[in-house]
Amino acid sequence: MTRTHALFRSILYVPGANARALEKSDGLAADGIVYDLKDAVAPEAKGAAREKLREHLAVSRFAGQRIVRVNPIETGDGTEDLLMARGAGVDAVLLPKVEDTDTLKDAARALDEMDAPARLRLWAMIETPRGIARAEKLARKGVSGRLSSLVVGTNDIRLATGIRPDAARTELLPWLMQIVLAAKANGLFVLDGVYGDFRDVDGFERECAAGRRMGFDGKTLIHPAQIAPANAAFGPGEAEIRDAEAIVSAFARPENAAAGVIQIDGRMVERLHLTEARRVLAMREAIAARSSEPSSRDP
Ligand code: COA
Ligand code: MG
Repeated sequence: MTRTHALFRSILYVPGANARALEKSDGLAADGIVYDLKDAVAPEAKGAAREKLREHLAVSRFAGQRIVRVNPIETGDGTEDLLMARGAGVDAVLLPKVEDTDTLKDAARALDEMDAPARLRLWAMIETPRGIARAEKLARKGVSGRLSSLVVGTNDIRLATGIRPDAARTELLPWLMQIVLAAKANGLFVLDGVYGDFRDVDGFERECAAGRRMGFDGKTLIHPAQIAPANAAFGPGEAEIRDAEAIVSAFARPENAAAGVIQIDGRMVERLHLTEARRVLAMREAIAARSSEPSSRDP
């Protein structure tokens, strides 16, 4: 498939050792799957899970982005995970608990040594106090050209800091915004943390909407039931698409060909809005292409 505009609305964790979940994951309409070899796999099961996942990825028909969450690279398991991910031709490797630049450099060097293609990207989990404090430094291009996304790990942040945020995550917001800013300052994508109570649809929708307002590109998920609401929340809404179309067609009129700024229905519209409108329409195209793929359907 051709991916002109990668989508990040819904990124589902699938436990690497769970055969049933792996099998089920192929047909899901998530924009991406993180095959988890870390938290979701017990220490003594790491090797077996890696082999299961290798077999699965060789035959998987999942059409979205494929990401493997590896164990820390400095452990033997981490290096084996990386080799497996490289061999499987996945889109990205997600590094846990990134808090210093050496972690990123070491992972990038290991991938280079494996002759991994440049399109194999690194995603970094920001889930410790030190990771949050250093997020901008970690996100800088010079650290690793392979880095393309920051992923928030809210459960670990809660554990490591003892923070007890309210349902709106009020107390977490400064830290979340710091991570969002670090990503935006460096042209990276940024994904919000998981919502654990997968039966609470209203609460999940509220948290998705808040995440979108904050500038997240999408949300990490733990359960298939969370895919459709995340896709809806992080995709462009109907009003947004209508606006984008109006802006593109207004600038396309001959009399506006040289205009830097125009008005539409009494609202100032600049060329920067045209850029954003084109992005919204490209995203709509990518979503249409994604949902017409044979293997993407809801469970
Ligand atoms: N990926 C793929 N399939 C999943 C899934 C996931 N993350 N979570 C649930 N499913 C499947 C189940 O296998 C089940 O399939 P089936 O009915 O065809 O057998 C179906 O969806 C319904 O699941 P449900 O019974 O509601 O939940 P569960 O008790 O099977 O699983 C969890 C609940 C939390 C254990 C499970 O969702 C999970 O493991 N999530 C990911 C956890 C994870 O990776 N954590 C680390 C990162 S934070
Ligand atoms: Mg974690």
